[in-house]
Amino acid sequence: MILVTGAAGFIGSNFVKECLSNPDERVVSLDQLTYAGNLSNLEFCVKNQAHIFVKGDINDEEKVSKILEEYKPNKIVNFAAESHVDRSINSPEIFFQTNVLGTFRLLEASRKYFEGLSKEKKEIFRILHISTDEVYGSLAELEKPFNEENRFKPNSPYSASKASSDHIARSYYKTFSLPIMISNCSNNYGPYQHPEKLIPLTILNLLEDKEIPVYGDGKQIRDWLYVEDHCRAIKAILDNGNIGEVYNVGGNNEMQNIQVIETICDLLEVYSPRKSGKEYKDLIKFVKDRPGHDTRYAINNNKIREKLSWIPNESFESGIQKTLQWYLTNKKWVDDARDSKHQAWINEQYTN
Ligand code: NAD
Ligand code: TYD
Repeated sequence: MILVTGAAGFIGSNFVKECLSNPDERVVSLDQLTYAGNLSNLEFCVKNQAHIFVKGDINDEEKVSKILEEYKPNKIVNFAAESHVDRSINSPEIFFQTNVLGTFRLLEASRKYFEGLSKEKKEIFRILHISTDEVYGSLAELEKPFNEENRFKPNSPYSASKASSDHIARSYYKTFSLPIMISNCSNNYGPYQHPEKLIPLTILNLLEDKEIPVYGDGKQIRDWLYVEDHCRAIKAILDNGNIGEVYNVGGNNEMQNIQVIETICDLLEVYSPRKSGKEYKDLIKFVKDRPGHDTRYAINNNKIREKLSWIPNESFESGIQKTLQWYLTNKKWVDDARDSKHQAWINEQYTN
């Protein structure tokens, strides 16, 4: 039994799918269903007896404790977080509430649960705290990709809150011997990603003939990884990782934002050309830069490749085609995700 927090979000729901593909696994999903959580992300398993969904907040220690006592998981994977950098600039407080205090409360409940386990159960119990490469800050053009020893230099309230949660997780391993591991992954893309993030925003705006807001000069670099590859990495760490250790996960796939956007434009010219006959690239619009915008992220994934024999299956070319097809064929999901709350965010963020 695995407890997955933040299971109704983008990566969490893909991870639940990965777990339930193994008939021996059972999953209890915990999610507060914030604006980013969407129960339809878990529609594929509503009738699956091996899956239970509980609506709840990781800050609610009593509720988390009850879930642990009732379902007795032997693994916990913590995805629950506020995850959008732009929102952390507009409204930072909830990031510290969820990502810092929420992680602390979840670990407190876990610590108490762990202390009551038998010796045998303690030996197999694991917690994986899911984090981001953004804790390491920004790389200059020729700097080496981030490895697990890099110093934390977070630049946004989002990355600062995630860095804090990583430190809390580490301290619970060192001080209380809670068997925690941490993974720091690069930018994910794929099915079920909320339409506020760059890749879905680009696909969906283009399909509606809307402009693509490119921050600054569009030359910032991200190391893109297909979400299913990330989920396989998480499984590998949970099953065979060493407790107390950190694993960096990334696709060796650095691309400038503008290259990502142009690739999507080129693919859409093939799959769904504009009715006006104009080019999708005409919709690219350079706008004011994000404050504190990190220039480059890149991951050195040697450790997870060598120690856990993990490698990504998808190239960006294959992953982005799958992603595009998914957004083209899941219109109801797209319409539901772009509800009035999402429209309010788009107006707040992009008007003027
Ligand atoms: P997401 O925003 O799509 O999903 C987050 C989920 O957490 C949502 O379902 C939301 O309802 C839930 N949630 C938020 N606050 C909660 C709370 N207090 N209690 C319970 N549930 C709560 O995010 P994502 O992109 O799936 O990211 C998941 C995790 O992976 C995050 O911790 C993020 O920092 C990390 N991460 C994301 C990426 C990426 O590119 N998306 C890369 C590396 C790491
Ligand atoms: P995002 O998907 O928000 O992920 P992160 O900030 O966590 O890397 O953004 C990816 C990159 O795309 C980032 O450099 C910011 C840029 N971006 C834009 O240029 N325009 C946009 O409208 C958004 C949402 C992002």
